[in-house]
Amino acid sequence: MKILMVCLGNICRSPLAEGIMKIKVPESFFVDSAGTISLHEGEHPDKRAIKTAANHNIDISKQKSRPVTKADFDTFDKIFCMDIDVYEDVISKAQNEEQRRKVSLFMSALGDHENAEVPDPYWGDMNDFEAVFQLLDRGCDAIKNQILS
Ligand code: 4NP
Repeated sequence: MKILMVCLGNICRSPLAEGIMKIKVPESFFVDSAGTISLHEGEHPDKRAIKTAANHNIDISKQKSRPVTKADFDTFDKIFCMDIDVYEDVISKAQNEEQRRKVSLFMSALGDHENAEVPDPYWGDMNDFEAVFQLLDRGCDAIKNQILS
């Protein structure tokens, strides 16, 4: 099972989602993340994201930002988008129905949060990053349970 987490810059939300998911799933899983913009390509995650993950004993410091590519739609089985803008951008890059079926909103895994978004903590503070971590942790549990059940 190959899972791709996608946000805008690939320096805050999706690196955290990648780091959280990696410690929840079996080693046979491949988990990666990407962004819809290439502004931060090659950069490590935002320092606040690295610190928040480290507070939970997760090391995301070695990740590097990269943009989503067309090849991702073949490589990955499931592509989770952090908000609706990201979802629409990713869907617009899919080339057929099979690829479109792989794409969903991350928060839709939490049934009571249909259409809900993972808020962007980039313009916020450490409390916002911690709140996003908690949301991503719950979402990753829900995704893991769906996949493994
Ligand atoms: P992310 O957060 O999509 O969770 O990685 C952002 C990172 C960078 C920017 C916006 C959001 N930016 O405008 O540079």
